[in-house]
Amino acid sequence: MDFKMLVDKREKKYLLKKKVNKLGTDLGVVDLENKDVGEVVYSHLGEKFYYVEPTLYDVLKRMKRTVTTLLPKDIGFIIARGGIRNGEIVLEAGTGSGVLTMYLANAVGKEGRVITYEKRPEFAKVARENLLRLGLVRKNQPIIGLDEEFNDDIEVEEGLFNVIMKIGDVREGIEERDIDVIVLDMPDPWEVVEHAKKALNKKRGRIITYLPYIEQVKKTVEKLKEEGFWDIQTYELIERVIEVSEKGVRPSTRMIGHTGYITFARVPID
Ligand SMILES: C[S@@+](CC[C@H](N)C(=O)[O-])C[C@H]1O[C@@H](n2cnc3c(N)ncnc32)[C@H](O)[C@@H]1O
Repeated sequence: MDFKMLVDKREKKYLLKKKVNKLGTDLGVVDLENKDVGEVVYSHLGEKFYYVEPTLYDVLKRMKRTVTTLLPKDIGFIIARGGIRNGEIVLEAGTGSGVLTMYLANAVGKEGRVITYEKRPEFAKVARENLLRLGLVRKNQPIIGLDEEFNDDIEVEEGLFNVIMKIGDVREGIEERDIDVIVLDMPDPWEVVEHAKKALNKKRGRIITYLPYIEQVKKTVEKLKEEGFWDIQTYELIERVIEVSEKGVRPSTRMIGHTGYITFARVPID
């Protein structure tokens, strides 16, 4: 990935692009020239910093965003309950900022592929830069359906390069066939169910939808049933952060009340 990270004594994290070699902070200027990731470094004021590789989670929290992105609790469950694994072909809509895309791409690995549809070119371009920096799309890789060439100055040498980006409204149809999993984070997935039925692999095809409103879930499940999908199940996940202090251990007072409902189903054979 095109990122490295500094962490100060307060555990404040500074995500840096690889080519950045100097950082000004309120704890002084840190010069990274001739320093290796994995070292302790000091600012000109003598303050200590960890110089490390960021995790995908560190990157996610600081990625450029155009839309509300999925949270790790939901992403993790989509992958685990959806049974998404190495080598699978996943089709996703919409790309948004590419946060879910990045985890799907890592789940399917080098042998797999994520084909991601986005109807708004301006969102797809921001997502492309995020995915480029993570080594998931190649330098100068086009976005299918977008009449624009890219001349990237970023090159990530080691990456999965397994994401294909497309501009398109997935409600109008899915060209691809033999897809293992379709993941829809968009407002009206019931409009996609018939296309999904044709596009999914009959042996193992699954569809997963993520929706904020229960009315949307009802409409989606009704459509899935109508089209013969089976093993249909909807979930909501609640996350509680636990605070550990001298006084005791307890859940944090504040929490995220609601994100979305996740529905899973399998494609019918006939
Ligand atoms: C909530 S965002 C997705 C966020 C994304 N999962 C992430 O983690 O960054 C929904 C996206 O779907 C796109 N979208 C909505 N309807 C669509 C459609 N019919 N076809 C393709 N993209 C669509 C929107 O433009 C928006 O970017």
